[in-house]
Amino acid sequence: MDLRLEEMRDERPGLSAELQSRAFRTPWTDKRVQYVVYKGGNQVAILFFDLCVCDGLVLYELFVAKEYRRRGIGTALIREAEVVASSRGYSQLVLRPRPLEDGLSCEQLVRWYRARGFTPSVDRPDLLRKEVHCAPPSKDSEI
Ligand SMILES: CC(C)(COP(=O)(O)OP(=O)(O)OC[C@H]1O[C@@H](n2cnc3c(N)ncnc32)[C@H](O)[C@@H]1OP(=O)(O)O)[C@@H](O)C(=O)NCCC(=O)NCCS
Repeated sequence: MDLRLEEMRDERPGLSAELQSRAFRTPWTDKRVQYVVYKGGNQVAILFFDLCVCDGLVLYELFVAKEYRRRGIGTALIREAEVVASSRGYSQLVLRPRPLEDGLSCEQLVRWYRARGFTPSVDRPDLLRKEVHCAPPSKDSEI
């Protein structure tokens, strides 16, 4: 799938109302990396990560705009998230599954992630993890 990730830095210029309203709830921190996702010329999703001094890159938020759901974009963004993790030197993706809207229960969300290779963390059962193919170390350990 042809998706383009554009990193947002000091501001979030020109986000669609839906994505802006979702992104607005997520405060900036110096450890948070934020992407807006384009398919063709359309903004279809946001994808936020938290950098961590550990093996896992935290997938903090995955949100696909309503009109683009159930077309495989969320699944494709898990693959993109793996590329981001790998390119930053992380060996895992880590997340806490929590539905951000009504219409998808926590159980359905956990099933959705598990079908995409995530498994419950042994030490933290509230977290899901997925191993990613790891690039040579270049971890943002000081960020
Ligand atoms: C969860 C989410 C990211 C999935 O993105 P997506 O692009 O719709 O997912 P995909 O198209 O790759 O996968 C679709 C499959 O997921 C499952 N699925 C997606 N939404 C579903 C729903 N509301 N109810 C039940 N199953 C659902 C189905 O198996 C579906 O396959 P189907 O259409 O063949 O039935 C998207 O629904 C979303 O952004 N939700 C709101 C934000 C949110 O809660 N994010 C989770 C943060 S942890």
